[in-house]
Amino acid sequence: MTDLWAPPFTPEQVIDRANVMFSTQALLTANRMGVFSALGKEGRKEAQALAKELSADLRALTIFLDALTGLGYLTKDAKGRYANSNVAKKHLVPGPGSAYLGDYLRFQDMLWDSWGKLETAVKTGRPTRSADMYQTNADETRRFIRAMHSTASLNAPFLADRLETAGKKHLVDVGGGPGTFAIHFLRQNPELRATIVDLPGTLEVTKEIVAEEPEQVRGRITLRPCDFNKDSLGGPYDVALVSHIIHGHSDHRVHALLMKLRDALATNGVLYVHDFFTESSRATPAFASLFALNMLVSTDGGRTWSFDETKEILESLGYRQVEWKRMGQPRGLSVVAAVSPVDSLRGKKSGLE
Ligand SMILES: C[S@@+](CC[C@H](N)C(=O)[O-])C[C@H]1O[C@@H](n2cnc3c(N)ncnc32)[C@H](O)[C@@H]1O
Repeated sequence: MTDLWAPPFTPEQVIDRANVMFSTQALLTANRMGVFSALGKEGRKEAQALAKELSADLRALTIFLDALTGLGYLTKDAKGRYANSNVAKKHLVPGPGSAYLGDYLRFQDMLWDSWGKLETAVKTGRPTRSADMYQTNADETRRFIRAMHSTASLNAPFLADRLETAGKKHLVDVGGGPGTFAIHFLRQNPELRATIVDLPGTLEVTKEIVAEEPEQVRGRITLRPCDFNKDSLGGPYDVALVSHIIHGHSDHRVHALLMKLRDALATNGVLYVHDFFTESSRATPAFASLFALNMLVSTDGGRTWSFDETKEILESLGYRQVEWKRMGQPRGLSVVAAVSPVDSLRGKKSGLE
């Protein structure tokens, strides 16, 4: 897979990178306005009909539809009628047969203003929106967790196929959000049950997603309302998944969470940390270091971690066999795997505090 953000690049690409915002805003706006849903999976519509349906200005909408056509989201026939392209039908229109990404785009939409204030974040060191993990407003929580479901639905089958859970009985999905990863692990391993640990607001959305599963999966899932910065994780578990969590919290809290998890894991329990890990420079892969900026504007102390520092913290807590599994996932996503300490180390503090 090519890395859109990786050097080397030409002066023309510098200009292209600056202009990427045009296509980003066109896509987010079309999704928000309901252009793709209005066009649906079948048939074609004239700009005039769409202008009426979307309460838009005809001239402006035609310019917009042509740009979306140029970007490959729509097609335009000789009579000037528009339809969704195959990609849009599959990923931007909800319904049977879709691998819908519209919820992800709605969430990205929420980040636009925060990114516009990146300079403030860099100067003050403070996020430019409420660092509330989208828990203050139920609509934001839903957008956040539905967005996580969209992306996890693409990655979870891949990971569930490759990360070993044979012989394991109880998985804890820490900050499991939509529960998509837990669901795919359970689909893959019928012997496994899962506890999804998350904040109560998030679990309201998780409930709906889990309810869509057949009883043989749904019946093996427990939802545990918990603020992992304060509450017990329960356990013991023999496998733990920490997916897209450590980038969202301060170093101190990540350390405390990994220590708490160490004590919630049985001896020889397996830990999988799934995230945008960087090389020791913390600069590459480029998407991982770019994602750290996303955390700068939206969280209280979050960032992305290098494999080296993750290994150091895990080993200081007694975790063993720390390994970086780079399996060619998109955007440089990867997994750090480790095995929980022998009993005698449990409950001890590390030298890194
Ligand atoms: C980026 S999402 C990741 C969701 C899921 N693990 C995935 O990879 O798709 C972060 C999740 O952590 C949860 N979370 C954040 N802070 C938390 C806390 N203090 N205690 C429990 N869950 C928390 C959020 O509610 C959200 O579901």
